[in-house]
Amino acid sequence: MRLDIFSLFPEAFDWLQTQRPVQNALKEGNELRLFNYRDSTPLTGRQVDDAPYGGGAGMVLRVDVIDASLQAAYGEGVRPRIVLLTPTGRLLDDELADELVSERHVALLCGRYEGFDERVHEHFADDEVSIGRYVLAGGEMPAMVVADVVMRKLPGALGHERSAVEESFSQVLEGMPEYPHYTRPAQYRGWSVPDVLVSGDHERVRLWRMEQSRARAEQFEKNPE
Ligand code: ADE
Repeated sequence: MRLDIFSLFPEAFDWLQTQRPVQNALKEGNELRLFNYRDSTPLTGRQVDDAPYGGGAGMVLRVDVIDASLQAAYGEGVRPRIVLLTPTGRLLDDELADELVSERHVALLCGRYEGFDERVHEHFADDEVSIGRYVLAGGEMPAMVVADVVMRKLPGALGHERSAVEESFSQVLEGMPEYPHYTRPAQYRGWSVPDVLVSGDHERVRLWRMEQSRARAEQFEKNPE
């Protein structure tokens, strides 16, 4: 897939691009491209925002600036699925991540300041996504969260021996949280690893893990926070 990220701070994504799952996904032929609204703004002095009509605090990202950045990136060609990061959008979960990863091409648009002119929401966005009901200073961290969850789902992103298929909330686990993991030492301060995990009996291990996931799911339903 191709993932484009539009932001005023594309350098914020430098770290993301050093991460192994992202590098693996890119090696598999996927793409991650960054765009700076300032590089294509039609305004002088690389201006991208303006004071809100009607008054009030803060600045608003201009609709003509967003239009120009999409035009510069895509021209009259086929547009990707355009996703705005906003605190009031659809809450990100594993299902939404699966939906995005099934797209050929997705663009994430990061807001800053007071957000986007309303006409951006109305005329350019296919979706609005939130990572939680709180307001961050901008959409960069939310976009990084979306990029992380989506890219690690791409085939080969976690290396060939691992996959995101059997992770918490995945379809394989029937949407349940993942079972607990243990590693060496088998004994530590009297805290021991469950016997079944060192039994070498793969079927018993599988059943135990499903059971654990189920118990966690019940716990989770009682107290989802
Ligand atoms: N932009 C600011 N806050 C946000 C949030 N919680 N989710 C997505 N985008 C945002």
